Amino acid sequence: KAIQLKDYRPPEYLIDRTELHFDLGADKTRVTSTLTLRRNPDVTPTGKGLTLHGQEIELVSVSIDGRTLSDNDYRLDDETLTLPEAPEQFELTTVGDIDPKNNTSLEGLYRSRTMYCTQCEAEGFRKITWYLDRPDVMSEFFTTVVADEKQFPVLLSNGNLIEQGSADNGRHFATWHDPHKKPAYLFALVAGNLEHIEDTFTTMSGRDVTLKIFVEAKDLDKCGHAMTSLKNAMRWDEEQYGREYDLDIFMIVAVDDFNMGAMENKGLNIFNTACVLAKPETTTDAGFQRVEGVVAHEYFHNWSGNRVTCRDWFQLSLKEGFTVYRDATFSADMGSPTFKRVEDVSMLRTLQFAEDAGPMAHPVRPDSYIEISNFYTLTIYEKGNEVVRMLANLLGPELFRKGTDLYFERHDGQAVTTEDFVAALEAVSGRDLTQFKRWYDQAGTPKLTVTDRWDEDAGEYHLTIAQTCPPTPGQPEKQPFHIPVAMGLLGSAGSLPLKIKGQAPNPETDDNTHTVLELTEAEHTFVFEQLPEKPVPSLLRGFSAPVKLYYGYSRDDLMRLMSGDSDGFCRWDASQQLAIEVIEDVMVAYQKGEDLSGITIDGRLIEANRLLLQDDSLDKAMVALMLSLPSEAYLGEQQDEIQVEAIHHSRAAVKRALAEALKPELTQIYRAYDHGKPYRPTADDIAERSLKNAALSYLMTLNEPEMIEACEQQYRQANNMTDAIAAVGELVNSQASGAETVREQVLADFYQTWKDEPLVVDQWLRVQATSSRSNTLDVVHELEQHPAFEPNNPNKIRALVGAFTNANPINFHRADGAGYRFLGDQILRLNSVNPQIAARLVTPFTRWKRYPKAQQELMHAELERIKAEPKLSKDVYEVVSKSLV
Ligand code: ARG
Ligand code: ZN
Repeated sequence: KAIQLKDYRPPEYLIDRTELHFDLGADKTRVTSTLTLRRNPDVTPTGKGLTLHGQEIELVSVSIDGRTLSDNDYRLDDETLTLPEAPEQFELTTVGDIDPKNNTSLEGLYRSRTMYCTQCEAEGFRKITWYLDRPDVMSEFFTTVVADEKQFPVLLSNGNLIEQGSADNGRHFATWHDPHKKPAYLFALVAGNLEHIEDTFTTMSGRDVTLKIFVEAKDLDKCGHAMTSLKNAMRWDEEQYGREYDLDIFMIVAVDDFNMGAMENKGLNIFNTACVLAKPETTTDAGFQRVEGVVAHEYFHNWSGNRVTCRDWFQLSLKEGFTVYRDATFSADMGSPTFKRVEDVSMLRTLQFAEDAGPMAHPVRPDSYIEISNFYTLTIYEKGNEVVRMLANLLGPELFRKGTDLYFERHDGQAVTTEDFVAALEAVSGRDLTQFKRWYDQAGTPKLTVTDRWDEDAGEYHLTIAQTCPPTPGQPEKQPFHIPVAMGLLGSAGSLPLKIKGQAPNPETDDNTHTVLELTEAEHTFVFEQLPEKPVPSLLRGFSAPVKLYYGYSRDDLMRLMSGDSDGFCRWDASQQLAIEVIEDVMVAYQKGEDLSGITIDGRLIEANRLLLQDDSLDKAMVALMLSLPSEAYLGEQQDEIQVEAIHHSRAAVKRALAEALKPELTQIYRAYDHGKPYRPTADDIAERSLKNAALSYLMTLNEPEMIEACEQQYRQANNMTDAIAAVGELVNSQASGAETVREQVLADFYQTWKDEPLVVDQWLRVQATSSRSNTLDVVHELEQHPAFEPNNPNKIRALVGAFTNANPINFHRADGAGYRFLGDQILRLNSVNPQIAARLVTPFTRWKRYPKAQQELMHAELERIKAEPKLSKDVYEVVSKSLV
């Protein structure tokens, strides 16, 4: 059942030209496809004829060069159409009927509210017509769409519009031509009653490109931010990578029902509304940033993905890892680099590390899969990004740019592999990256154990770094990785000059106080000379490699790093480490049965935070980040066995203790904020709001009536969604008896105000689903019946089910197993409706071995219950069966 990388064979046939004709009927859609096929001259024929992919299509007819075939000229099954006698070169016409209205999988052609749209990556095209649905078959597409003119005035596909006109019975048609050869996964079609905003972009060579964003009429006021982001991304890609856009028109369409964030179809990106629509009243700061990032991501794919695409789906990270790296550096350039880096590293360390430690662990370039949709993972995207980032940092900016130039030039119009990407970087740098490539092949998170020795007499500091990597499924043993460790040394008055014994500084990456240590063996010792005092090491600056690093910092060391390091990431990381230790102190007390109300915590955490809050010279983004306690999920990651309740209550107790100790400072920050100031989604303003809302969150733990009132006021007076939803979130979580009435009023008011804005309703669902109050599962059950909840819409599922099961540990992991049962029911319900979404929901269960025995058993039982379902989709089957091993 599993597809293996080692079985890859080039295609026996090529498709030079693809002509598609869509007749969108009231009931079915008829698809006529005419393919110009010829044998691949580079492949020795196997004599098995031609086998095309095709699923859930009702065959009307097949013909070769205009001659209709009879039933015994071809073989048809649920997944393929085979022509045993296919000629060397011919024109194949197939006619098939599909049923987009009843396509709830949201793959292929489907209906979303009032429009038709497509999602073909990875293997959705085969639900549209019979085809060689694999990324190494690239073709020139001509697409004609015919539909009712009133209902579907807008008809779109990839490339340029070459013809349009009216057809019979009140219908009309449009024909699009995409001059760039592309794999079928980049095909797109949209038909609907859409409005659009329009702009133009002049490329670096002086060509004018028309930019259009299509939405339903009600959303026309929410497109501006996406358009600005798009133009910024187009300019940035020219400046940073020398990449110019290559068609006369670039279109984005927003759809409500979408499995993922967005899709980079050539010239016609299709977006989840959640990743393109934004306006201050309805969209949070995080939402604005997401739109900017995703718009850029999909645009950047035009080169890293479309012009140069993947040979097969094992190479997925070739385009995704690289494109995430590109969008992350873009976002860093547009906003606060440290903020962006901390956000990405937090996600990686919390979620990707958990994936790497679980049953679905796979390398950045996997070597086997059952269902490719299950491999659109944090490992492919986020660890893949880290791997490209390490390469970029190892080469330095100039060589990396030369390398990407060479990669794009060598492989333009080709379908290639991660090896080809690295080869281009090797060619320009002269570096041997053979060992580095283990990052693509070996799964698991490497662990660095750092020990040191200070030789006072010699003024020498000996730093020893050992690496290991735990076993992962199918990979019991690991070879050492090539790991760049960016670092410096801190003395009592700041950075110390670095002189490493036997090593000249590397001018590409080093200055006097910063260096990159390259680990290639299981253990290395570095000796730093001529030091005036015993240093504190600042390690893994900027999170220079996706590893877990263990060094026995004292709490005083951590405070020194927090206030004195030159690297923003390390300062933040030290603040988190200090907080983790203090929370772990409280966990010990909790396990002993001590009462946590009024508990005293290590004064150093209080002092460190007081300094932060008092220092006006500090970047507000940094303060907000450092003030925020590590999430419960990240705290869980640090434990051998995840004690959900201990973590939750200890973290809450530390938060309360900090709020009590720092009440004047926090109140000052909260009061000093200008609540009436006009909204702008700039880095500075976002940082200011996030600091102010962090202060509110601390103060709300004190359960004081003035704060509940302030919170309500913030909700009522907010001119933007960030402040409004932050206040609602605090009220929803508040344990204060006085919060009850306000909470109910505010939630009702919020829904009344926003019930016609689906993306705001999502936030309303999410904020309730993530409440730590003990009746939350009951609330979730009620919300499931609420008219606001659309049971098959992925955004609604993520907002209610996903939020409850992924972001509400204390309630999801209830001791009675009711949280688990709820998730099991949802997975079974969605298994037949939308397998991709169902499989994604399984994730929390894949972690079952990380919990205490009683919880393990309950989760295991749910996995067994799901596995027993007779008609399990491939998607759910793969995740569930691998989890049960
Ligand atoms: N290529 C898209 C992106 O990352 C994601 C498409 C995922 N589709 C899927 N069926 N898993 O931009
Ligand atoms: Zn992507």
